Amino acid sequence: MSNRNFSTKLLLGSAIAFLLYSCQPKPATQSTQKGLIAEQAMVVSARKEASDIGIAILQKGGNAFDAMMATEMALAVTYPFAGNLGGGGFAVFRLNDGSLGSIDYREKAPLAADRDMYLDENGDIIPGMSTQGAMASGVPGTIAGIFAAQEKYGKLSPAEVLAPVIELAERGFVVTENQAGRFARLRETFQEVNGPGTYFAQEIKAGQTLTNPALAATLKRIAQHGRDEFYKGETAQIIVDHFEKIGGIISLEDMNSYEAAWREPIVFNYKDLKIISMAPPSSGGITIGQIFEMISPYDLKGYGHHSPEYVQVLVEAERRAYADRNYFLGDPDFVDIPVGELLDEDYLRNRMASFSMEKATKSEEIAEGEIAFAENMETTHYSIVDQEGNAISVTTTLNGAYGSKVYIDELGFFMNNEMDDFSSKAGEPNMFGLIGAEANSIAPGKRMLSSMTPTLVEKEGKLWMVVGTPGGSTIITSVVQTILNVYEFEMSMQEAVEAPRFHHQWLPDLVSFEPNSFDSTLISILKAKGYQILENNNPIIGKVDAILVLPDGKLEGGADPRGDDAASGF
Ligand code: DON
Repeated sequence: MSNRNFSTKLLLGSAIAFLLYSCQPKPATQSTQKGLIAEQAMVVSARKEASDIGIAILQKGGNAFDAMMATEMALAVTYPFAGNLGGGGFAVFRLNDGSLGSIDYREKAPLAADRDMYLDENGDIIPGMSTQGAMASGVPGTIAGIFAAQEKYGKLSPAEVLAPVIELAERGFVVTENQAGRFARLRETFQEVNGPGTYFAQEIKAGQTLTNPALAATLKRIAQHGRDEFYKGETAQIIVDHFEKIGGIISLEDMNSYEAAWREPIVFNYKDLKIISMAPPSSGGITIGQIFEMISPYDLKGYGHHSPEYVQVLVEAERRAYADRNYFLGDPDFVDIPVGELLDEDYLRNRMASFSMEKATKSEEIAEGEIAFAENMETTHYSIVDQEGNAISVTTTLNGAYGSKVYIDELGFFMNNEMDDFSSKAGEPNMFGLIGAEANSIAPGKRMLSSMTPTLVEKEGKLWMVVGTPGGSTIITSVVQTILNVYEFEMSMQEAVEAPRFHHQWLPDLVSFEPNSFDSTLISILKAKGYQILENNNPIIGKVDAILVLPDGKLEGGADPRGDDAASGF
Protein backbone atom coordinates (compact mmCIF):
# COMPACT_ATOMS: atom_id res chain seq x y z
CA MET A 1 0.00 0.00 0.00
CA SER A 2 1.44 3.36 -0.96
CA ASN A 3 -0.48 5.87 1.13
CA ARG A 4 0.81 5.76 4.67
CA ASN A 5 -0.30 9.26 5.71
CA PHE A 6 -3.36 8.34 7.63
CA SER A 7 -4.85 11.63 8.70
CA THR A 8 -6.94 12.37 11.77
CA LYS A 9 -9.88 12.70 9.39
CA LEU A 10 -9.44 9.16 8.21
CA LEU A 11 -9.15 7.86 11.74
CA LEU A 12 -12.27 9.72 12.76
CA GLY A 13 -14.11 8.64 9.63
CA SER A 14 -13.26 5.05 10.29
CA ALA A 15 -14.29 5.35 13.91
CA ILE A 16 -17.61 6.83 12.86
CA ALA A 17 -18.13 4.08 10.31
CA PHE A 18 -17.48 1.72 13.16
CA LEU A 19 -20.04 3.45 15.37
CA LEU A 20 -22.68 3.40 12.67
CA TYR A 21 -22.29 -0.29 12.23
CA SER A 22 -25.71 -1.48 13.12
CA CYS A 23 -25.74 -4.51 15.36
CA GLN A 24 -27.82 -4.22 18.53
CA PRO A 25 -25.98 -3.04 21.65
CA LYS A 26 -26.70 -5.02 24.79
CA PRO A 27 -23.99 -5.13 27.46
CA ALA A 28 -22.23 -8.43 27.80
CA THR A 29 -22.43 -10.09 31.16
CA GLN A 30 -20.19 -12.77 32.49
CA SER A 31 -22.03 -15.81 33.71
CA THR A 32 -20.79 -18.86 35.46
CA GLN A 33 -23.37 -20.91 33.65
CA LYS A 34 -22.87 -23.62 31.15
CA GLY A 35 -24.86 -23.44 27.96
CA LEU A 36 -27.40 -25.98 26.81
CA ILE A 37 -26.05 -29.52 27.05
CA ALA A 38 -27.11 -32.16 24.52
CA GLU A 39 -26.22 -35.81 24.22
CA GLN A 40 -25.97 -36.21 20.47
CA ALA A 41 -26.69 -33.25 18.24
CA MET A 42 -26.91 -29.49 18.42
CA VAL A 43 -27.66 -26.40 16.34
CA VAL A 44 -26.84 -22.90 17.63
CA SER A 45 -28.05 -19.95 15.56
CA ALA A 46 -29.33 -16.40 15.73
CA ARG A 47 -32.95 -17.54 16.20
CA LYS A 48 -34.59 -20.26 18.25
CA GLU A 49 -36.94 -21.15 15.37
CA ALA A 50 -33.99 -21.70 13.03
CA SER A 51 -32.09 -23.85 15.55
CA ASP A 52 -35.28 -25.86 16.18
CA ILE A 53 -35.86 -26.48 12.47
CA GLY A 54 -32.26 -27.64 12.07
CA ILE A 55 -32.78 -30.10 14.94
CA ALA A 56 -36.14 -31.27 13.53
CA ILE A 57 -34.41 -32.10 10.25
CA LEU A 58 -31.75 -34.10 12.12
CA GLN A 59 -34.48 -35.96 14.00
CA LYS A 60 -36.15 -36.75 10.70
CA GLY A 61 -33.02 -38.63 9.64
CA GLY A 62 -31.14 -35.78 8.00
CA ASN A 63 -27.51 -34.94 8.73
CA ALA A 64 -25.55 -31.70 9.30
CA PHE A 65 -25.77 -30.73 5.61
CA ASP A 66 -29.54 -31.12 5.54
CA ALA A 67 -29.71 -29.15 8.78
CA MET A 68 -27.52 -26.47 7.19
CA MET A 69 -29.99 -25.95 4.34
CA ALA A 70 -32.94 -25.85 6.73
CA THR A 71 -31.28 -23.55 9.28
CA GLU A 72 -29.97 -21.15 6.65
CA MET A 73 -33.40 -20.80 5.03
CA ALA A 74 -35.17 -20.56 8.40
CA LEU A 75 -32.84 -17.63 9.22
CA ALA A 76 -33.87 -16.00 5.93
CA VAL A 77 -37.48 -16.19 7.16
CA THR A 78 -37.02 -15.22 10.82
CA TYR A 79 -33.90 -13.05 10.71
CA PRO A 80 -34.03 -11.00 7.48
CA PHE A 81 -31.45 -8.67 9.09
CA ALA A 82 -28.78 -11.13 7.91
CA GLY A 83 -30.37 -14.48 7.05
CA ASN A 84 -30.75 -14.50 3.32
CA LEU A 85 -31.36 -15.77 -0.18
CA GLY A 86 -29.96 -12.53 -1.59
CA GLY A 87 -26.50 -12.79 0.00
CA GLY A 88 -23.68 -15.28 0.41
CA GLY A 89 -21.48 -17.07 2.89
CA PHE A 90 -18.91 -19.72 3.73
CA ALA A 91 -19.16 -23.16 5.35
CA VAL A 92 -16.31 -25.20 6.82
CA PHE A 93 -17.06 -28.82 7.67
CA ARG A 94 -15.56 -31.92 9.20
CA LEU A 95 -17.09 -35.30 8.46
CA ASN A 96 -17.19 -37.94 11.17
CA ASP A 97 -14.29 -39.77 9.48
CA GLY A 98 -12.13 -36.68 10.09
CA SER A 99 -12.08 -35.45 6.48
CA LEU A 100 -12.28 -31.71 6.05
CA GLY A 101 -13.74 -29.37 3.46
CA SER A 102 -15.26 -26.00 2.85
CA ILE A 103 -17.56 -24.31 0.42
CA ASP A 104 -17.41 -20.71 -0.75
CA TYR A 105 -20.73 -19.20 -1.75
CA ARG A 106 -19.56 -15.63 -1.56
CA GLU A 107 -21.26 -13.13 -3.87
CA LYS A 108 -19.49 -12.04 -7.06
CA ALA A 109 -19.19 -8.64 -8.70
CA PRO A 110 -21.61 -8.46 -11.64
CA LEU A 111 -20.00 -8.86 -15.07
CA ALA A 112 -20.75 -5.20 -15.84
CA ALA A 113 -18.87 -4.06 -12.70
CA ASP A 114 -15.62 -2.19 -13.04
CA ARG A 115 -12.79 -1.12 -10.83
CA ASP A 116 -13.80 2.52 -10.52
CA MET A 117 -17.56 2.08 -10.48
CA TYR A 118 -17.96 3.84 -7.12
CA LEU A 119 -15.77 6.86 -8.00
CA ASP A 120 -16.90 10.20 -9.39
CA GLU A 121 -15.14 12.12 -12.16
CA ASN A 122 -12.60 13.45 -9.65
CA GLY A 123 -11.76 9.94 -8.52
CA ASP A 124 -13.54 10.38 -5.18
CA ILE A 125 -15.79 7.74 -3.67
CA ILE A 126 -19.51 8.46 -4.25
CA PRO A 127 -20.94 8.17 -0.71
CA GLY A 128 -23.46 5.39 -0.21
CA MET A 129 -23.24 3.91 -3.68
CA SER A 130 -21.57 0.68 -2.55
CA THR A 131 -23.73 0.37 0.56
CA GLN A 132 -27.34 1.15 -0.39
CA GLY A 133 -29.60 0.65 -3.37
CA ALA A 134 -29.31 -0.88 -6.82
CA MET A 135 -25.55 -0.71 -7.33
CA ALA A 136 -24.53 -2.15 -3.96
CA SER A 137 -25.41 -5.81 -4.57
CA GLY A 138 -23.18 -8.61 -5.71
CA VAL A 139 -24.57 -11.71 -7.45
CA PRO A 140 -26.03 -13.83 -4.63
CA GLY A 141 -24.47 -17.17 -3.74
CA THR A 142 -26.49 -18.63 -0.87
CA ILE A 143 -28.83 -20.91 -2.82
CA ALA A 144 -25.91 -22.28 -4.86
CA GLY A 145 -23.93 -22.93 -1.65
CA ILE A 146 -26.57 -24.73 0.36
CA PHE A 147 -27.68 -26.82 -2.63
CA ALA A 148 -24.12 -27.83 -3.54
CA ALA A 149 -23.35 -28.88 0.05
CA GLN A 150 -26.67 -30.66 0.57
CA GLU A 151 -26.53 -32.43 -2.78
CA LYS A 152 -23.03 -33.79 -2.13
CA TYR A 153 -23.37 -34.79 1.53
CA GLY A 154 -27.02 -34.53 2.61
CA LYS A 155 -29.40 -37.46 3.05
CA LEU A 156 -32.89 -36.04 2.52
CA SER A 157 -34.39 -34.38 -0.56
CA PRO A 158 -34.35 -30.56 -0.72
CA ALA A 159 -38.15 -30.65 -0.76
CA GLU A 160 -38.20 -32.57 2.55
CA VAL A 161 -35.66 -30.18 4.06
CA LEU A 162 -37.47 -27.04 2.92
CA ALA A 163 -40.99 -28.17 3.88
CA PRO A 164 -40.85 -26.96 7.53
CA VAL A 165 -39.24 -23.69 6.44
CA ILE A 166 -42.04 -23.01 3.95
CA GLU A 167 -44.54 -23.78 6.68
CA LEU A 168 -42.74 -21.35 9.01
CA ALA A 169 -42.88 -18.57 6.40
CA GLU A 170 -46.60 -19.20 5.96
CA ARG A 171 -47.41 -19.59 9.66
CA GLY A 172 -45.15 -16.72 10.73
CA PHE A 173 -42.68 -16.10 13.55
CA VAL A 174 -42.89 -13.92 16.64
CA VAL A 175 -41.01 -10.62 16.32
CA THR A 176 -38.58 -9.99 19.20
CA GLU A 177 -37.88 -6.65 20.90
CA ASN A 178 -34.50 -6.46 19.18
CA GLN A 179 -36.09 -7.03 15.81
CA ALA A 180 -38.95 -4.58 16.31
CA GLY A 181 -36.41 -1.88 17.19
CA ARG A 182 -34.40 -2.55 14.06
CA PHE A 183 -37.48 -2.62 11.81
CA ALA A 184 -38.67 0.70 13.26
CA ARG A 185 -35.28 2.36 12.84
CA LEU A 186 -35.01 1.36 9.19
CA ARG A 187 -38.64 1.73 8.11
CA GLU A 188 -38.07 5.03 6.35
CA THR A 189 -34.97 3.71 4.60
CA PHE A 190 -36.90 0.66 3.37
CA GLN A 191 -39.54 3.03 1.95
CA GLU A 192 -36.94 5.32 0.45
CA VAL A 193 -35.25 2.42 -1.37
CA ASN A 194 -38.31 0.34 -2.29
CA GLY A 195 -41.32 2.69 -2.29
CA PRO A 196 -44.09 3.22 0.28
CA GLY A 197 -45.87 -0.10 -0.33
CA THR A 198 -42.89 -2.35 0.40
CA TYR A 199 -43.51 -5.21 2.85
CA PHE A 200 -41.25 -3.97 5.64
CA ALA A 201 -42.75 -0.47 5.47
CA GLN A 202 -45.56 -1.79 7.67
CA GLU A 203 -45.42 -1.04 11.38
CA ILE A 204 -44.02 -4.13 13.07
CA LYS A 205 -44.36 -4.58 16.82
CA ALA A 206 -42.58 -6.87 19.25
CA GLY A 207 -44.71 -9.92 19.97
CA GLN A 208 -46.50 -9.73 16.64
CA THR A 209 -46.52 -12.79 14.36
CA LEU A 210 -45.01 -11.93 11.01
CA THR A 211 -45.63 -14.13 7.97
CA ASN A 212 -43.85 -13.90 4.62
CA PRO A 213 -46.11 -15.44 1.93
CA ALA A 214 -43.92 -14.13 -0.92
CA LEU A 215 -40.86 -15.87 0.51
CA ALA A 216 -42.92 -19.04 1.09
CA ALA A 217 -43.87 -19.03 -2.61
CA THR A 218 -40.23 -18.49 -3.68
CA LEU A 219 -39.08 -21.36 -1.46
CA LYS A 220 -41.84 -23.62 -2.84
CA ARG A 221 -40.60 -23.03 -6.38
CA ILE A 222 -37.01 -23.69 -5.27
CA ALA A 223 -38.08 -26.88 -3.43
CA GLN A 224 -39.82 -28.06 -6.57
CA HIS A 225 -37.28 -27.10 -9.26
CA GLY A 226 -33.99 -27.01 -7.34
CA ARG A 227 -31.15 -24.46 -7.34
CA ASP A 228 -31.65 -23.63 -11.02
CA GLU A 229 -34.99 -22.07 -10.20
CA PHE A 230 -33.01 -19.34 -8.42
CA TYR A 231 -30.26 -18.92 -11.03
CA LYS A 232 -32.01 -19.76 -14.30
CA GLY A 233 -35.77 -19.90 -13.65
CA GLU A 234 -38.58 -17.52 -12.80
CA THR A 235 -36.81 -16.30 -9.64
CA ALA A 236 -33.70 -15.31 -11.63
CA GLN A 237 -35.86 -13.42 -14.11
CA ILE A 238 -37.67 -11.54 -11.34
CA ILE A 239 -34.33 -10.55 -9.73
CA VAL A 240 -32.90 -9.34 -13.03
CA ASP A 241 -36.08 -7.45 -13.99
CA HIS A 242 -36.08 -5.82 -10.56
CA PHE A 243 -32.48 -4.65 -10.86
CA GLU A 244 -33.14 -3.33 -14.35
CA LYS A 245 -36.11 -1.36 -13.03
CA ILE A 246 -34.17 0.22 -10.18
CA GLY A 247 -31.02 0.96 -12.19
CA GLY A 248 -28.76 -1.93 -11.17
CA ILE A 249 -26.47 -4.08 -13.29
CA ILE A 250 -27.10 -7.70 -12.22
CA SER A 251 -27.90 -9.53 -15.48
CA LEU A 252 -29.32 -12.92 -16.41
CA GLU A 253 -25.82 -13.93 -17.48
CA ASP A 254 -24.59 -13.10 -13.95
CA MET A 255 -27.29 -15.30 -12.45
CA ASN A 256 -26.88 -18.14 -14.97
CA SER A 257 -23.14 -18.35 -14.50
CA TYR A 258 -22.92 -18.20 -10.69
CA GLU A 259 -21.36 -21.30 -9.09
CA ALA A 260 -20.32 -21.97 -5.50
CA ALA A 261 -16.66 -23.06 -5.15
CA TRP A 262 -15.22 -25.94 -3.08
CA ARG A 263 -12.05 -24.70 -1.35
CA GLU A 264 -9.35 -26.35 0.72
CA PRO A 265 -9.72 -25.00 4.24
CA ILE A 266 -6.83 -23.28 6.02
CA VAL A 267 -5.45 -25.69 8.64
CA PHE A 268 -2.84 -24.83 11.29
CA ASN A 269 -1.88 -25.78 14.83
CA TYR A 270 -2.00 -23.76 18.02
CA LYS A 271 -0.24 -25.78 20.75
CA ASP A 272 -2.14 -29.11 20.75
CA LEU A 273 -5.14 -27.73 18.87
CA LYS A 274 -5.67 -28.17 15.15
CA ILE A 275 -7.64 -25.23 13.82
CA ILE A 276 -9.57 -25.46 10.55
CA SER A 277 -10.95 -22.29 9.03
CA MET A 278 -11.99 -20.55 5.83
CA ALA A 279 -9.56 -19.82 2.99
CA PRO A 280 -9.68 -16.81 0.64
CA PRO A 281 -11.77 -15.08 -0.53
CA SER A 282 -12.31 -14.97 3.20
CA SER A 283 -9.44 -13.49 5.14
CA GLY A 284 -10.63 -15.33 8.25
CA GLY A 285 -8.50 -18.49 8.19
CA ILE A 286 -5.20 -16.87 7.24
CA THR A 287 -5.64 -13.96 9.63
CA ILE A 288 -6.50 -16.11 12.66
CA GLY A 289 -3.66 -18.45 11.62
CA GLN A 290 -1.23 -15.53 11.74
CA ILE A 291 -2.58 -14.27 15.05
CA PHE A 292 -2.41 -17.69 16.73
CA GLU A 293 1.16 -18.25 15.51
CA MET A 294 2.29 -14.81 16.67
CA ILE A 295 0.79 -15.20 20.16
CA SER A 296 1.89 -18.81 20.70
CA PRO A 297 5.29 -18.06 22.35
CA TYR A 298 3.64 -15.92 25.06
CA ASP A 299 2.34 -17.19 28.39
CA LEU A 300 -1.21 -15.93 27.99
CA LYS A 301 -2.57 -18.07 30.80
CA GLY A 302 0.14 -16.79 33.13
CA TYR A 303 -0.63 -13.17 32.26
CA GLY A 304 -4.31 -13.76 33.11
CA HIS A 305 -7.53 -13.11 31.23
CA HIS A 306 -7.89 -9.45 30.24
CA SER A 307 -4.61 -8.54 31.93
CA PRO A 308 -2.72 -5.68 30.22
CA GLU A 309 -0.11 -8.12 28.89
CA TYR A 310 -2.75 -10.44 27.43
CA VAL A 311 -4.51 -7.54 25.70
CA GLN A 312 -1.19 -6.17 24.43
CA VAL A 313 0.00 -9.44 22.92
CA LEU A 314 -3.30 -9.96 21.14
CA VAL A 315 -3.56 -6.37 19.91
CA GLU A 316 0.02 -6.37 18.58
CA ALA A 317 -0.50 -9.67 16.76
CA GLU A 318 -3.78 -8.35 15.35
CA ARG A 319 -2.11 -5.12 14.20
CA ARG A 320 0.45 -7.07 12.16
CA ALA A 321 -2.03 -9.64 10.85
CA TYR A 322 -4.58 -7.05 9.63
CA ALA A 323 -1.81 -5.09 7.87
CA ASP A 324 -1.06 -8.25 5.88
CA ARG A 325 -4.75 -9.06 5.41
CA ASN A 326 -5.51 -5.71 3.86
CA TYR A 327 -2.55 -5.82 1.50
CA PHE A 328 -2.23 -9.41 0.35
CA LEU A 329 -5.70 -10.95 0.43
CA GLY A 330 -8.42 -11.04 -2.20
CA ASP A 331 -10.20 -13.54 -4.45
CA PRO A 332 -7.75 -16.40 -5.14
CA ASP A 333 -9.35 -16.86 -8.59
CA PHE A 334 -8.02 -13.38 -9.48
CA VAL A 335 -4.89 -12.73 -7.38
CA ASP A 336 -1.97 -14.85 -6.20
CA ILE A 337 -1.93 -15.14 -2.45
CA PRO A 338 1.30 -16.22 -0.72
CA VAL A 339 -0.56 -18.43 1.78
CA GLY A 340 2.44 -20.52 2.86
CA GLU A 341 4.63 -17.48 3.42
CA LEU A 342 1.94 -15.62 5.34
CA LEU A 343 1.57 -18.57 7.72
CA ASP A 344 5.28 -19.31 7.99
CA GLU A 345 6.49 -19.57 11.59
CA ASP A 346 9.78 -17.70 11.05
CA TYR A 347 8.07 -14.92 9.14
CA LEU A 348 5.54 -14.46 11.93
CA ARG A 349 8.11 -14.59 14.76
CA ASN A 350 10.01 -11.93 12.88
CA ARG A 351 6.88 -9.80 12.56
CA MET A 352 6.52 -9.76 16.36
CA ALA A 353 10.20 -8.91 16.90
CA SER A 354 9.41 -5.17 16.92
CA PHE A 355 6.94 -5.58 19.80
CA SER A 356 7.88 -4.67 23.35
CA MET A 357 5.63 -4.85 26.44
CA GLU A 358 6.83 -1.34 27.31
CA LYS A 359 4.85 0.51 24.70
CA ALA A 360 2.36 0.24 21.85
CA THR A 361 3.66 -0.17 18.33
CA LYS A 362 2.22 2.57 16.13
CA SER A 363 0.17 1.26 13.20
CA GLU A 364 1.79 3.84 10.91
CA GLU A 365 5.10 2.07 11.61
CA ILE A 366 3.64 -1.26 10.53
CA ALA A 367 3.20 -2.06 6.87
CA GLU A 368 2.49 -5.37 5.26
CA GLY A 369 5.39 -7.75 5.77
CA GLU A 370 8.07 -8.20 3.16
CA ILE A 371 7.20 -11.36 1.37
CA ALA A 372 9.02 -12.49 -1.72
CA PHE A 373 6.46 -13.72 -4.21
CA ALA A 374 5.63 -12.97 -7.82
CA GLU A 375 3.45 -9.87 -7.67
CA ASN A 376 1.02 -10.41 -10.49
CA MET A 377 -1.03 -9.55 -8.94
CA GLU A 378 -24.99 -7.92 8.82
CA THR A 379 -24.01 -11.38 8.87
CA THR A 380 -24.98 -14.34 10.98
CA HIS A 381 -23.27 -17.52 12.09
CA TYR A 382 -24.58 -20.96 12.99
CA SER A 383 -22.85 -24.07 14.24
CA ILE A 384 -24.09 -27.64 13.81
CA VAL A 385 -22.99 -31.03 15.14
CA ASP A 386 -25.18 -33.95 14.08
CA GLN A 387 -25.84 -37.31 15.73
CA GLU A 388 -23.38 -38.98 13.35
CA GLY A 389 -20.54 -36.69 14.48
CA ASN A 390 -20.39 -34.49 11.36
CA ALA A 391 -19.77 -30.81 12.13
CA ILE A 392 -20.38 -27.69 10.11
CA SER A 393 -19.59 -24.09 10.82
CA VAL A 394 -21.40 -21.56 8.64
CA THR A 395 -21.28 -17.78 8.41
CA THR A 396 -23.71 -16.12 6.01
CA THR A 397 -24.47 -12.49 5.28
CA LEU A 398 -26.12 -9.65 3.43
CA ASN A 399 -23.18 -7.52 4.70
CA GLY A 400 -24.84 -4.52 6.38
CA ALA A 401 -28.15 -4.80 8.21
CA TYR A 402 -30.71 -5.88 5.57
CA GLY A 403 -27.93 -5.52 2.99
CA SER A 404 -28.50 -2.88 0.32
CA LYS A 405 -32.05 -2.45 1.74
CA VAL A 406 -33.26 -3.44 -1.74
CA TYR A 407 -36.23 -5.71 -0.98
CA ILE A 408 -37.80 -7.65 -3.83
CA ASP A 409 -41.42 -7.73 -2.70
CA GLU A 410 -42.40 -10.32 -5.27
CA LEU A 411 -39.79 -12.74 -3.87
CA GLY A 412 -39.84 -11.83 -0.17
CA PHE A 413 -36.15 -11.17 0.47
CA PHE A 414 -33.50 -8.45 0.75
CA MET A 415 -30.46 -8.16 -1.52
CA ASN A 416 -26.93 -7.81 -0.19
CA ASN A 417 -24.61 -4.77 -0.22
CA GLU A 418 -21.52 -6.96 -0.37
CA MET A 419 -19.88 -4.78 -3.05
CA ASP A 420 -18.77 -2.53 -0.18
CA ASP A 421 -16.38 -5.29 0.92
CA PHE A 422 -14.27 -4.56 -2.14
CA SER A 423 -11.70 -1.84 -1.94
CA SER A 424 -13.50 0.90 -3.93
CA LYS A 425 -10.33 3.00 -3.85
CA ALA A 426 -6.93 1.98 -2.55
CA GLY A 427 -6.27 3.41 0.90
CA GLU A 428 -9.89 4.41 1.62
CA PRO A 429 -11.80 2.66 4.41
CA ASN A 430 -15.00 0.69 3.80
CA MET A 431 -17.94 0.58 6.23
CA PHE A 432 -15.90 -1.47 8.70
CA GLY A 433 -12.99 0.98 8.54
CA LEU A 434 -10.96 -1.63 6.64
CA ILE A 435 -8.42 -0.20 4.26
CA GLY A 436 -8.06 -2.14 1.02
CA ALA A 437 -5.44 -2.55 -1.64
CA GLU A 438 -5.02 -3.77 -5.19
CA ALA A 439 -5.61 -7.44 -4.31
CA ASN A 440 -9.19 -6.57 -3.36
CA SER A 441 -10.02 -4.13 -6.18
CA ILE A 442 -13.24 -4.61 -8.13
CA ALA A 443 -13.28 -6.75 -11.28
CA PRO A 444 -16.15 -8.41 -13.18
CA GLY A 445 -16.98 -11.81 -11.70
CA LYS A 446 -14.55 -11.37 -8.79
CA ARG A 447 -15.43 -12.20 -5.19
CA MET A 448 -14.93 -9.48 -2.59
CA LEU A 449 -12.64 -10.14 0.39
CA SER A 450 -14.44 -11.23 3.55
CA SER A 451 -13.66 -11.42 7.25
CA MET A 452 -16.07 -14.28 7.86
CA THR A 453 -14.35 -16.97 9.88
CA PRO A 454 -16.39 -20.15 10.22
CA THR A 455 -14.03 -22.36 12.20
CA LEU A 456 -13.67 -25.89 13.59
CA VAL A 457 -11.15 -26.95 16.19
CA GLU A 458 -9.80 -30.44 16.85
CA LYS A 459 -8.06 -31.56 20.02
CA GLU A 460 -6.23 -34.88 20.18
CA GLY A 461 -7.55 -35.74 16.75
CA LYS A 462 -11.20 -35.31 17.74
CA LEU A 463 -13.71 -32.58 17.09
CA TRP A 464 -13.51 -30.09 19.95
CA MET A 465 -15.23 -26.86 18.93
CA VAL A 466 -17.43 -25.36 16.20
CA VAL A 467 -17.30 -21.56 16.29
CA GLY A 468 -17.98 -18.37 14.35
CA THR A 469 -19.72 -15.00 14.50
CA PRO A 470 -20.95 -11.98 12.55
CA GLY A 471 -19.37 -8.58 13.18
CA GLY A 472 -17.53 -7.45 10.03
CA SER A 473 -13.89 -6.82 10.73
CA THR A 474 -14.38 -7.84 14.39
CA ILE A 475 -15.29 -11.41 13.40
CA ILE A 476 -11.64 -12.49 13.31
CA THR A 477 -10.73 -11.16 16.74
CA SER A 478 -13.93 -12.51 18.31
CA VAL A 479 -13.23 -16.03 17.03
CA VAL A 480 -9.64 -15.89 18.39
CA GLN A 481 -10.79 -14.69 21.83
CA THR A 482 -13.57 -17.29 22.06
CA ILE A 483 -11.15 -20.14 21.38
CA LEU A 484 -8.62 -18.70 23.87
CA ASN A 485 -11.32 -18.23 26.52
CA VAL A 486 -11.98 -21.96 26.56
CA TYR A 487 -8.48 -23.27 25.82
CA GLU A 488 -6.29 -20.94 27.90
CA PHE A 489 -8.74 -19.70 30.50
CA GLU A 490 -10.86 -22.83 30.97
CA MET A 491 -14.25 -21.20 30.54
CA SER A 492 -17.36 -23.14 29.60
CA MET A 493 -18.58 -22.61 26.04
CA GLN A 494 -21.35 -20.30 27.20
CA GLU A 495 -18.99 -18.26 29.42
CA ALA A 496 -16.51 -17.96 26.57
CA VAL A 497 -19.20 -16.59 24.29
CA GLU A 498 -20.50 -14.17 26.92
CA ALA A 499 -17.10 -12.84 28.04
CA PRO A 500 -16.53 -9.20 27.02
CA ARG A 501 -14.38 -8.74 23.91
CA PHE A 502 -11.91 -6.20 22.58
CA HIS A 503 -10.76 -5.52 19.05
CA HIS A 504 -7.94 -4.04 17.02
CA GLN A 505 -7.49 -4.07 13.23
CA TRP A 506 -4.26 -2.12 12.46
CA LEU A 507 -6.15 0.87 11.04
CA PRO A 508 -7.67 2.87 12.51
CA ASP A 509 -4.98 2.70 15.21
CA LEU A 510 -7.54 2.21 17.97
CA VAL A 511 -8.33 -0.58 20.39
CA SER A 512 -12.05 -0.94 21.09
CA PHE A 513 -13.51 -2.50 24.23
CA GLU A 514 -17.09 -3.51 24.85
CA PRO A 515 -18.58 -0.70 26.92
CA ASN A 516 -18.72 -1.02 30.72
CA SER A 517 -17.10 -4.43 30.64
CA PHE A 518 -13.40 -3.83 31.25
CA ASP A 519 -11.53 -2.72 34.31
CA SER A 520 -10.61 1.00 34.31
CA THR A 521 -7.09 0.16 35.59
CA LEU A 522 -6.50 -1.99 32.51
CA ILE A 523 -7.55 0.90 30.26
CA SER A 524 -5.29 3.37 32.12
CA ILE A 525 -2.27 1.05 31.88
CA LEU A 526 -2.82 0.59 28.15
CA LYS A 527 -3.25 4.34 27.61
CA ALA A 528 -0.01 4.99 29.50
CA LYS A 529 1.74 2.61 27.11
CA GLY A 530 0.49 4.59 24.13
CA TYR A 531 -2.57 2.60 23.07
CA GLN A 532 -5.40 4.72 21.67
CA ILE A 533 -8.63 3.44 23.13
CA LEU A 534 -12.08 3.65 21.55
CA GLU A 535 -13.88 3.00 24.76
CA ASN A 536 -17.42 4.26 24.69
CA ASN A 537 -20.31 3.54 22.39
CA ASN A 538 -18.25 1.24 20.29
CA PRO A 539 -20.39 -1.23 18.40
CA ILE A 540 -21.15 -4.61 19.75
CA ILE A 541 -18.47 -7.08 18.89
CA GLY A 542 -20.12 -10.03 17.16
CA LYS A 543 -22.66 -12.60 18.23
CA VAL A 544 -20.74 -15.83 18.65
CA ASP A 545 -22.64 -19.11 18.26
CA ALA A 546 -20.52 -22.12 19.12
CA ILE A 547 -20.55 -25.75 20.22
CA LEU A 548 -17.99 -27.43 22.48
CA VAL A 549 -17.54 -31.20 22.65
CA LEU A 550 -17.14 -31.97 26.36
CA PRO A 551 -14.75 -34.66 27.67
CA ASP A 552 -17.68 -37.09 28.09
CA GLY A 553 -18.69 -36.55 24.44
CA LYS A 554 -21.74 -34.43 25.25
CA LEU A 555 -22.19 -31.12 23.47
CA GLU A 556 -22.32 -27.70 25.13
CA GLY A 557 -23.88 -24.83 23.20
CA GLY A 558 -22.70 -21.25 23.50
CA ALA A 559 -25.43 -18.90 22.26
CA ASP A 560 -24.59 -15.20 22.36
CA PRO A 561 -26.90 -13.21 24.65
CA ARG A 562 -25.97 -10.06 22.73
CA GLY A 563 -28.67 -11.17 20.25
CA ASP A 564 -31.71 -13.48 20.30
CA ASP A 565 -29.43 -16.44 19.66
CA ALA A 566 -30.39 -19.90 20.90
CA ALA A 567 -29.15 -23.47 21.03
CA SER A 568 -31.33 -26.52 20.41
CA GLY A 569 -30.27 -30.10 20.76
CA PHE A 570 -31.07 -33.66 21.70
O1 DON B 1 -17.76 -10.63 4.67
C1 DON B 1 -17.55 -9.78 5.52
O2 DON B 1 -16.50 -9.69 6.13
C2 DON B 1 -18.67 -8.82 5.88
N1 DON B 1 -19.55 -8.68 4.77
C3 DON B 1 -19.36 -9.30 7.11
C4 DON B 1 -20.47 -8.39 7.55
C5 DON B 1 -20.91 -8.61 8.94
O3 DON B 1 -20.36 -9.40 9.65
C6 DON B 1 -22.03 -7.76 9.42
N2 DON B 1 -22.49 -8.30 10.68
N3 DON B 1 -23.01 -8.06 11.61
